[in-house]
Amino acid sequence: MRNFVVAIDGPAGSGKSSISKIVAKKLGFTHLDTGAMYRAVTLEALRRGIDLENEDEYDFLDEISIIYKDDKIYLNGTDVSKEIRTEDVTNNVSTPSKLKRVRDKMVFFQRKSCEYGKVLMDGRDIGTVVMPNADLKIFLTASAEERAKRRCLENSLVGIESDYETILREIKERDFKDSTREIAPLKKASDAIEIDTTSLTIDEVVNKIINLIDGRLYSMENFDFEMPKELNVRDVVEGEVVSIEDNTIYLDVKQFTEAVMHLDHYTTDKNATSFKNLVKVGDKIKCQVTKITEEHIFVSRLNQLSEENFKAVIALSQEKSKVKVTVKKDVNKGFMVDYNGNQIFMPASLAGKDTKVGDKIEVVILPSEDENKKPIASRKAVLDEEYKQAKNAELDKVNVGDVVEATVAKVEKYGAFLRFGMLQGLLRAKEYSHKFVDITKEIKEGDKFQVKVIKKDDNNKLEFSRKALIDTPYQAFVKTHKVSDKVVGKVVEKTGFGLILEVAEDVRGLLHKSEYSHNPNDNLASVLKIGDTVEVAIIGLVDEKEKVSLSRKALMDNPWERVDAKVGDVVDVKVLEVSESGLKVETLGVDGFVPASEALVEKKNDLSSYFAVGDEAKAVITEINPKEWRLKLSIRKHQEAEARKDFEKYLNEGEEANSNLGDMFKDVLDK
Ligand code: DC
Repeated sequence: MRNFVVAIDGPAGSGKSSISKIVAKKLGFTHLDTGAMYRAVTLEALRRGIDLENEDEYDFLDEISIIYKDDKIYLNGTDVSKEIRTEDVTNNVSTPSKLKRVRDKMVFFQRKSCEYGKVLMDGRDIGTVVMPNADLKIFLTASAEERAKRRCLENSLVGIESDYETILREIKERDFKDSTREIAPLKKASDAIEIDTTSLTIDEVVNKIINLIDGRLYSMENFDFEMPKELNVRDVVEGEVVSIEDNTIYLDVKQFTEAVMHLDHYTTDKNATSFKNLVKVGDKIKCQVTKITEEHIFVSRLNQLSEENFKAVIALSQEKSKVKVTVKKDVNKGFMVDYNGNQIFMPASLAGKDTKVGDKIEVVILPSEDENKKPIASRKAVLDEEYKQAKNAELDKVNVGDVVEATVAKVEKYGAFLRFGMLQGLLRAKEYSHKFVDITKEIKEGDKFQVKVIKKDDNNKLEFSRKALIDTPYQAFVKTHKVSDKVVGKVVEKTGFGLILEVAEDVRGLLHKSEYSHNPNDNLASVLKIGDTVEVAIIGLVDEKEKVSLSRKALMDNPWERVDAKVGDVVDVKVLEVSESGLKVETLGVDGFVPASEALVEKKNDLSSYFAVGDEAKAVITEINPKEWRLKLSIRKHQEAEARKDFEKYLNEGEEANSNLGDMFKDVLDK
């Protein structure tokens, strides 16, 4: 399938346009008068009053539409077939025609016009530049005089009066300009067939050309044109933008004329006022034919848009995508939001707080829960996500060991839920204070205090401690007391190794039994009852179990330290107590004991008849152990020794001693 193009070139007034029109009509060809297109550009340039020579002033080329159809030329949709034949346009058309920018644009249109079917195009450069591969090239000529005559006649037919001499001069001038210009000058293509029409009638020329075309067609085997498909209203076509006006674009829809699309058929955006920045030449747009008139094909892409948008919305809902929408209407049970012209329902439960008509908000498009899975909008999903992200960011900043100010959100027996910022955590009852308390009585909702973060688990659950920030009673005690301080302790427990004393509220200390007294026989534990108090000294404070080491002994004088005596020494004793078992005496500053058997030389049952408290006597030490505070004495042995001494003295003075001193004191020393 292919097209068939006939190129007819020639100078002004050679009869190209009139002859081409007739031939095209006779053979059913599409005719394109390219000269008319250059004239339309010139007309627009003159209307705009631009400097015709200045290429930079031809920006308007991107905004105008030039359509040649059924031998009429439309400029921006208006038939200007008559206006382009005025003297003003004729005299100026050479100038825009020599500009590259203008020619590029025109050549683009012209080539597009011959893509389909059988086309006959006339101009100056068709066979040389526009369609160098045309199937048949004809170059029409005629003498300048003949051409001037024809132009006058042509003008008068469309109601324009003209002067022969002037026209002749102008034709000559235009010939010169058209043939000597730099770009695409008027030139016969080497493979063009020249026909001099000076002395020929129109019919003669027409027949010549028809014969040439027939001959060419006949010589082409299997010729199969690609004809435009028949187009009907509602057909969907793809059009390529060939020209853009403010609010109209022209699309090549592979028909004999371009399709027209108005801005309101391109977009539903009421704020759009121009096609500028929306489309560019060359864009391909899928659209639907809405109307076909004799002159135009009208198309719209609104149906495609809403179909595409609807598909896009379905796709968004499947991917649960986040998009920007405008809240359009407050409807029963929610809102309608607009996304690219699509109205989507946003249930009130997913609208978030304070949503109102007019708001531009972000939502997630989701499939509804019901059967039809219709897309719905959820602002809540966006807000929830934002909240989660902000919360996670806060959570990331929190570490175990941090101290934060938290507010009580809820109190239960087992603990309290505390809030700080967006986060929440648990303060277990046991972490409230060092003492076990009923926290429901201690704190209430809204209370604020500092807590330490003591746990952050893998699920980012937080736990707090208030007591971690408070001194234990022991720590407080240690801060205000030092070793050697004297304190009063209350007996709270008796153990095998000593007494437990409370030295301050909830601070306990151990008074080890070795610290009761210097006196090893002192059994303080049996003397004191639970609840009794005792004065003690602190002898140790650093204790893992937070126990204070105490001593009573440290506060006491040890009389035994001063005792320097040994068994056999004779000392003065003073009776402190008289009992059946013996005498409690005081000597050398400490207590001693004289057993009943050692009190008197002669055994007597009733010691109290011989000794009274306060009596003084001499006694010999028979046993001494300062560590155990043990001191035993014997008055008897001392008295017997004294008696022995007297007796020895008497013996020494009288007769020979019959026994030695060791024998005499034997029983004393043995004890
Ligand atoms: O054929 P006409 O007089 O209508 O053409 C008007 C002018 O357009 C002519 O002076 C040269 C120019 N022209 C051109 O440069 N190239 C063409 N293909 C057609 C016309």
